[in-house]
Amino acid sequence: MFSASELLELRAQFPILESTVHGKTLVYLDNAASTHKPDRVLESMNAYYRTTHSNVHRGVHQLSQKATEAFEQAREEVRLHLNASDASEIIFTKGCTDAINTVASGYAELLRAGDEVLVSTLEHHSNIVPWQMACRRSGAVLRVIPINDSGELLWDVALLSPRTRLVAVNHISNALGTINPIEQIVRDCHAQHTAVLVDGAQSGPHLSIDVQALDVDFYTLSGHKIYGPTGIGVLYGKRALLDALPPYQGGGDMIKTVRFEETTYADPPFKFEAGTPNMAGAIGLAEALRFVRDVGLKRIQEHETALLTQASAELAGMSELRLVGTAQRKASVLSFLIEGAHPYDIGVLLDHMGIAVRTGHHCTQPLMERLGIPGTARASFALYNTPVEVEAFVQAVRKATSMLYEPTQA
Ligand code: ALA
Repeated sequence: MFSASELLELRAQFPILESTVHGKTLVYLDNAASTHKPDRVLESMNAYYRTTHSNVHRGVHQLSQKATEAFEQAREEVRLHLNASDASEIIFTKGCTDAINTVASGYAELLRAGDEVLVSTLEHHSNIVPWQMACRRSGAVLRVIPINDSGELLWDVALLSPRTRLVAVNHISNALGTINPIEQIVRDCHAQHTAVLVDGAQSGPHLSIDVQALDVDFYTLSGHKIYGPTGIGVLYGKRALLDALPPYQGGGDMIKTVRFEETTYADPPFKFEAGTPNMAGAIGLAEALRFVRDVGLKRIQEHETALLTQASAELAGMSELRLVGTAQRKASVLSFLIEGAHPYDIGVLLDHMGIAVRTGHHCTQPLMERLGIPGTARASFALYNTPVEVEAFVQAVRKATSMLYEPTQA
C-alpha cells in the first residue's frame, strides 16, 4: 500500500479527482474504462504543441526534425517499457482496438480456408469481432476457449489443432479482472507453431510487461487506460512477423516507392503508420509510462490488490449481493450484482452517491451470455484510489442494496 501521505501526493497530480458530482465528492471507480491523467502528462502534450510541433518524417526544416525526434523518442520509451528488442517492433495506433484490427486485417490475407483462430470467452468485443471479420474474409474458423464459473480460462493444449494459426487472448479480463496464464498459453502455442496475440488493454496499468520474457508474438496497449491520452495505443509485434504481415491501411509515410503499376512498402514500424501520426498522443503516452515507472508498477499492483481485497471482503458478507468473477488470480476489478436489481439501476443510484462505476455488458456480450446475466456493475481501482474511497463505495452499495434488493421467487 502507499502511505496516506504518498496517496495525497499522488492524488494532487490529478486535479479532476477533486470534482464533485451531485454535490458529493467524486469517487472514481471506472478506471478499467479510462483512467485520469496526471498533470505531467497533460503538460508534456502542451509543451510539445507550444515548442516542438510540426509534421514528422517529412521536413528538412528544423522544427520538423525536432518533432520527429520527440516522436521517435516516445517510441523508444515504449520499447523500453515493454522491453522490446528493437524500436521497429513498436507501432503507434489509435488504441488497442486499432492495434488488434491491424493484426487481424493482415491475418485476413495470410489465413487460408480451414485455418483456425482461437479466442477466449473472456474477450472484449475488440478481440472477437476483428477475428470474425478476418475469418469471414479468409474462410478460416473461429473457435473459443471456454471458462469455468469463476471466470478462469479452461486452457487446454488440446484446443489447438494443426490448423490453429493464432490465439488471441487478453492478459486481464476487463469485465471480471481475471489474470490469464499467458506464459503457459504462449509455451503451448509455440510448441505447435501457433502465434499468440495478447490484448494488454487492462494489464498495462497494473502489471510490468516484458514482451521478450513473455515471448508473445503480438501485444497491445491502450494509452488512455494507463494514465495517458485517448486516441493513442501500441501494437508490439516480433519483427519477423511484422515483416510478413500485410499493412492495414495505405497512405503517406508507409511506402518506399509509389508507382501506378506497383507500390513497395516501408519497413516496420512505418509500414503500419499511414498518414500523419498522433505525435502529441505518443508523447503524452511516453510521459504516462515514465509516470507509472516512477511510481513503480509493483507498488501500484500491491496497492490495487489491497483495495480489491478490502472491497471484496466487505461485500462478500452481503447475502443479497453476488460477486461475478472470483478467479484465483485477479486484478483491480470487482464486478457484482444485487439480487433482483438491474445493473443500470445500481449504477444510477451509486452515481447519485458520488460513486462512478461502469454498468452493463462491458463489451463482453458472449461472456455475459456464458454467465447467464445481462451485465454487472463494475468497480475498478487505480493507483490514486484510497481505502477511504473503498469504504465509501461499500457503504453506497449497502445503501443501494437496501433500496433495490428484491429476492427472486423460488
Ligand atoms: N473496455 C473498456 C471497459 O472495459 C471501455 O470499460
